[in-house]
Amino acid sequence: MLIRIPRKNDPKSSEITPANVYHSRRKILMSTGALASAAALPTTALPSDWIEERGYKPHEPAPLLDITPKPYTTQYNNFYEFGTDKEDPARYAEAMTIEPWSVEISGLVAKPGTYALEDVLAGIDLEERIYRLRCVEAWSAVIPWVGFPVSKLLAKYEPLEAAKYVKFTTHLNRDEMRGTRSFFSSIDFPYIEGLRLDEASNDLAIFAVGMYGDELLNQNGAPLRLVVPWKYGFKSIKSIVKIELTKRQPPTTWNMSAPQEYGFYSNVNPEVDHPRWSQAQERVLGAGLFARNQPTLMFNGYAEDVAGMYDGMNLRRNY
Ligand code: MTE
Repeated sequence: MLIRIPRKNDPKSSEITPANVYHSRRKILMSTGALASAAALPTTALPSDWIEERGYKPHEPAPLLDITPKPYTTQYNNFYEFGTDKEDPARYAEAMTIEPWSVEISGLVAKPGTYALEDVLAGIDLEERIYRLRCVEAWSAVIPWVGFPVSKLLAKYEPLEAAKYVKFTTHLNRDEMRGTRSFFSSIDFPYIEGLRLDEASNDLAIFAVGMYGDELLNQNGAPLRLVVPWKYGFKSIKSIVKIELTKRQPPTTWNMSAPQEYGFYSNVNPEVDHPRWSQAQERVLGAGLFARNQPTLMFNGYAEDVAGMYDGMNLRRNY
């Protein structure tokens, strides 16, 4: 197999991507503030045996704005409801029935109810957002999501003054989700997550219904998932069936499972290591075989847009 090692003079993505595509990506990134924090990107990879087994061609190393090739982000997943191996979601999530889909909106909102997904989406414009995804396991990807700001959905159902947090719950069907029947699962189901209301209202927090210009696949959390790009990936809860506005901080799945390791905030922070591994670097999916890890950025590169929400907070204690 021909293996290409990245060199200092490798072309920039602006040189290898058609200009119109590059400029539209650029525009999107500029508008979300992501470009401002973009440093020279990634060049790491999945284990080479994993790639060879599947016959993928090593992807040409390229700088930051290069989108992770779709096979990586749709076949190397975390969705414990379908098993804990990275291949399990792609193998088994197809069994999940996603039509019809409804979402219960409850708690401190003026318009609680159980709504068909079509009604939830009605009147909301979809947009593309190209975001980095940084998993707490220290791998990362760049994914073009199709979705809309969480704030637009919340506005529709009108949070009450007393609402301070948003709790999200994943669908649970033990017949269709083999991982939820396992005695060895390290987490309880349904999977739950939460954000402070101001975090959920930040423009960067989106609900995704698609990726790569297409519908979401089940393994990526169809038909509705959260994407919070400045936090570790486990906050980006998949296949959401319930959204609850609460007064108190809700419990969250990984925090309940291992409170010393996973906090409520889980903001990407290269200075605060996981108790069992460093968070200073990340391995970039699909960017070449022997490429270097890239340094992890504070708030995953989105500090300019989100750091202000944590002013005065001790980020080591509030991990
Ligand atoms: N949501 C649910 N319901 N169950 C999960 O196991 N895994 C999380 C998150 N959302 C998970 C989940 C983790 S650890 C990560 S890194 C991301 O989904 C991965 O998203 P992806 O598989 O689309 O890359």
